[in-house]
Amino acid sequence: MAKWVVASAWPYVNNVPHLGNLIGSILSADVFARYLRLKGEDVVFVSGSDEHGTPIEIEAIKRGVHPKQLTDQAHEYITKLFKEYGISFDNYTRTESETHKEFVREFMMKLYNNGYVFTQDEILPYCPRDKMFLPDRFVIGTCPYCGYPKAHGDQCDNCGRLLHPTELINPRCAICGGPVEFRKSKHWFFDLPKLQDKLMKWLEESNLPAKVKNYSLNWVKEGLKPRSITRDNKWGIPAPFPGAEGKTIYVWFDALLGYISATKEFGEKHGDPDLWKRYWFDKETRTVYFIGKDNIPFHAIIFPAMLMASGEPYVLPWYISATEYLLFEGEQFSKSRRWGIWIDEALELLPADYWRFVLIKIRPETKDTDFTWKELVKIVNKDMNDDIGNFVHRVLKFTESRFKGIVPEPGEYTDIDREYAEYVKSASSRVAEQFEAFRLKQALEETIELARRGNQYLNAKAPWDAIKTNPEDAATTIYIAINAVATLAVLLAPFTPVSAEKLWRMLNLEGSVHQKGIWSKVASTFIVKPGHKIGKPEPLFKKLPADFENKAPKLLEEARRKVMEKRPPLLRW
Ligand code: MF3
Ligand code: ZN
Repeated sequence: MAKWVVASAWPYVNNVPHLGNLIGSILSADVFARYLRLKGEDVVFVSGSDEHGTPIEIEAIKRGVHPKQLTDQAHEYITKLFKEYGISFDNYTRTESETHKEFVREFMMKLYNNGYVFTQDEILPYCPRDKMFLPDRFVIGTCPYCGYPKAHGDQCDNCGRLLHPTELINPRCAICGGPVEFRKSKHWFFDLPKLQDKLMKWLEESNLPAKVKNYSLNWVKEGLKPRSITRDNKWGIPAPFPGAEGKTIYVWFDALLGYISATKEFGEKHGDPDLWKRYWFDKETRTVYFIGKDNIPFHAIIFPAMLMASGEPYVLPWYISATEYLLFEGEQFSKSRRWGIWIDEALELLPADYWRFVLIKIRPETKDTDFTWKELVKIVNKDMNDDIGNFVHRVLKFTESRFKGIVPEPGEYTDIDREYAEYVKSASSRVAEQFEAFRLKQALEETIELARRGNQYLNAKAPWDAIKTNPEDAATTIYIAINAVATLAVLLAPFTPVSAEKLWRMLNLEGSVHQKGIWSKVASTFIVKPGHKIGKPEPLFKKLPADFENKAPKLLEEARRKVMEKRPPLLRW
């Protein structure tokens, strides 16, 4: 059995994540991790709060507090929200954890000792009014590659290119908006060019999806440039290199290592301090990363390069699932314009399972997708209720009223029975096939399809008529349909964990729908036997009122007012 590390990008905690952040990394990773566990795989699922870096520092300056005050509040609040969304992290930690900080410093010293770090004077933007160097997001200017006017010193948010601040056209200070000066400062650099050939070879042979592979290969072929590891900021992990006192480590060199340190911390918490090595140093381990597309260069180039330069036998990324962007009613999410839905607001409107289902259904897998209220109503009312909820309810209610809740002995199968029974028995392998290709959205589609065909099957068999004329045929229908419902419960478990468990209870089946390895039990066998007594049927999901689409903006406004009071002070708008 292979071991897996499921990793989701660490959110910057300068703000509450919005729905786009959730589907882009954490929710997708959770669905996949849950799927693997159901299959009986050995999984560690890690992430954490990305607390350092300029997004946090800028927010703290705006709020007039120390960055740690902001991240303490945010980390606690966000951790709680992820729990409410049912995110099944084995360890959700933070970059301010002692384990992490120590790990990063030791790791960076390995790169240094192995000859991958050199120093050089650099000319960097400096703000004479704020009296500070302006690294990364502290400087804003026009991207020389795509012309986007709000590119940052380290990366353009529009075209995704990594930048050097001197490349920006018309650079300005992000704090005061004024023009910048350029001053000299000594910095420590990661010698990426030294790894050029090794990286190219690895990328070419890797299992990474074409989108990630081609983007990265193009980038490497243009010729890699050294990246500076140090910053002149105070907020961050102090650089460990001799002579680098007063400098901190660039946030990306810090956060990426969190995947490993979080695994290490997970082991420490369970009295197994060497656990992390069994995952990260075993070449059979599959590490899988769920990220937004703007994170590709860091995960497909910088991180593997760091692992290679460490001289230790780390497994390199096995797969990177990079999503496109989620839009909100046709436009990008924007905190300054209050455009979008933030994850705490969402929970005031609908339970977590609804959001999980809807977001996976519109997951921006191959292209940007649009969240609209109209689509939300359609998914909840049609897919969740008409297709899934209705199928489940029809079957369970009929079993209750006509068979006293006891699963009947099937009679002889007709062609229609055989056809649907086969469809049910092969459903888990169809869904699995989509999961193995990281098509989470398609995996959900296949799951819904089982219910849709279930409804067609019931319509074709009409057990409510057959019960009067041919009760044995009605019994066959219900036996097959009940087993379809049980299969559906397992297939839904990664997507809507609470509702799947509720369904499992309604079926009165043993243990939990989330038990490890249950997937293989439903594959190709009917687990509900004749004579089994089901539990009490209840509606699985609720419909939204027909006018929800029109009322939604107002409801969101109310939800926003409510959550502002619940948020810790530094996260209020
Ligand atoms: N905080 C980064 C972002 O939101 C992602 C960091 S992923 C990490 O873009 F794992 F490297 F931390
Ligand atoms: Zn650009």
